[in-house]
Amino acid sequence: MPHAGSFSRRALLARAAFTVAAAAGAQAQPSSPTRMTTRPIPSSGEPLPVIGLGTYRGFDVAPGSADYQALPGVLDALVAAGGTVIDSSPMYGRAEETTGELLAARSPRPRVFLATKVWTTGREAGRAQMETSFRLLRARTIDLMQIHNLVDWRTHLPSLRRAKDEGRIRYVGITHYTPSAYRDVEAVLRAEPLDFLQINYAVDDRAAEARLLPLAQDKGVAVLVNMPFGGGGLLRRLRDRPLPGWAAEAGATSWAQLALRFVLTHPAVTCTIPGTGSPRNMADNAAAGAAPPLSAAERQAVIDAVAR
Ligand SMILES: NC(=O)c1ccc[n+]([C@@H]2O[C@H](COP(=O)([O-])OP(=O)(O)OC[C@H]3O[C@@H](n4cnc5c(N)ncnc54)[C@H](OP(=O)(O)O)[C@@H]3O)[C@@H](O)[C@H]2O)c1
Repeated sequence: MPHAGSFSRRALLARAAFTVAAAAGAQAQPSSPTRMTTRPIPSSGEPLPVIGLGTYRGFDVAPGSADYQALPGVLDALVAAGGTVIDSSPMYGRAEETTGELLAARSPRPRVFLATKVWTTGREAGRAQMETSFRLLRARTIDLMQIHNLVDWRTHLPSLRRAKDEGRIRYVGITHYTPSAYRDVEAVLRAEPLDFLQINYAVDDRAAEARLLPLAQDKGVAVLVNMPFGGGGLLRRLRDRPLPGWAAEAGATSWAQLALRFVLTHPAVTCTIPGTGSPRNMADNAAAGAAPPLSAAERQAVIDAVAR
């Protein structure tokens, strides 16, 4: 454990409130102590496992390639750990098609929470793109449809709401990945009823803490965190550094787990979707979802260790 004497009492209390609030929304599945923790989607109360899978890059691979052949193992590792959330987009090349193929190849088809996006301009183009997503994902229902990077959001939002009313999608959301867009994201979040916000947040990328995460929490909007490893750069920087001495006691065996557990300490966060095409990395990431929340002091120690 980090030395608590280095923190002021006020800062410690503030950080403790952070961790306690995060833990309050969380629920460990009672049947198995290693099963992944879930948190409720605020608009419905439906429990969502806290670690999911991002398909950007990792699932945009050619059938028959060695990379493709590894992907059933990624899905297995997600499902075996109790994870369900898979995030994709028409922007990710072949990723939706790959996801649909892998799901269809498993019998029975695993019960997953499918999230994808609309990423085009114009009403007809948006509707056509969503139809393509249903076909590629081989899904009758898509759990979460998001407007990717707010592209033409005023046009798409009514289409998404209609699809929700028709029962074809279950939740509506928006996404972004960069602080330069946070003003626009905030304006939409304030003005429009939404089920989900997907946004970037990581140990070394904490700008969303200032306004977006508290606002989402206030408004009862679920948060999916993208780029929890900064697109991979965070872990590449840490690769050759030993884990902090206290990590083993906290039940963490990798920097990836510390980085994900850091993200999960924020009480606004519902789930994070690290991207991977590696079964080993998926299992590593999923383990973070079964671990207890980091304490306030551990959370700060992760920030300090990464900044060093
Ligand atoms: N605007 C948007 O809507 C938006 C923007 C960005 C991302 N996203 C979504 O969020 C997801 C996550 O973001 P991201 O994929 O860009 O970045 P990320 O999750 O921060 O990082 C992914 C990178 O980390 C590596 N990695 C994953 N787990 C690891 C582990 N345990 N140990 C070591 N390396 C590990 C992956 O390599 P390996 O494949 O080798 O494991 C990959 O290179 C995306 O896949 C996408 O679904 C959405």
